[in-house]
Amino acid sequence: MTTGGPGSELARGLAAIHAEAFDSPWTARTFAELLDQPGIALEVEGDGFMLVQVAADEAEILTLAVRPSARRTGVATRLIEKAAARIVAAGGRRLFLEVAEDNAAGRALYARLGFEPVGRRPRYYARPDGPAVDALLLARNLSAPLPTA
Ligand SMILES: CC(C)(COP(=O)(O)OP(=O)(O)OC[C@H]1O[C@@H](n2cnc3c(N)ncnc32)[C@H](O)[C@@H]1OP(=O)(O)O)[C@@H](O)C(=O)NCCC(=O)NCCS
Repeated sequence: MTTGGPGSELARGLAAIHAEAFDSPWTARTFAELLDQPGIALEVEGDGFMLVQVAADEAEILTLAVRPSARRTGVATRLIEKAAARIVAAGGRRLFLEVAEDNAAGRALYARLGFEPVGRRPRYYARPDGPAVDALLLARNLSAPLPTA
């Protein structure tokens, strides 16, 4: 995908949403560079987006962000469902991600969508106001249907 560089509307739009969702947001340049990488898939849904990296029959969620004003309306769920369907259609079998252990919203979302713990990275996320937090590695077997709400 050619995005037109870090000043492109798409990269700037993704960076703006990311800045509302994370304390350490990624820049428009970072998004522009990522979008130009092979194997990167972007899902967009209104006020949210998700970037996925696909390699062979495995995929990883690189980031998932929904604007605070649009949360708890199913945006992230739809993004994950759409990405999962695309990955399966392309022959993918497993979807991985990392989530901070203190991210209650993310952990609840992923648990509801059938992701299960497969590992842990100790002290992976630095925190300005406290000790670093572990990353939990989660995975979902895409050959199983998504659980119904
Ligand atoms: C985590 C995040 C992506 C969820 O997005 P969302 O669009 O609000 O999620 P959904 O509306 O699809 O939520 C689906 C379910 O997940 C769970 N969930 C989502 N947010 C939750 C919260 N704050 N507290 C508890 N459960 C939550 C609920 O079970 C929810 O269903 P319900 O609303 O019917 O109770 C969003 O809060 C966000 O962008 N957070 C900041 C960035 C982030 O943490 N990204 C993921 C990092 S890996």
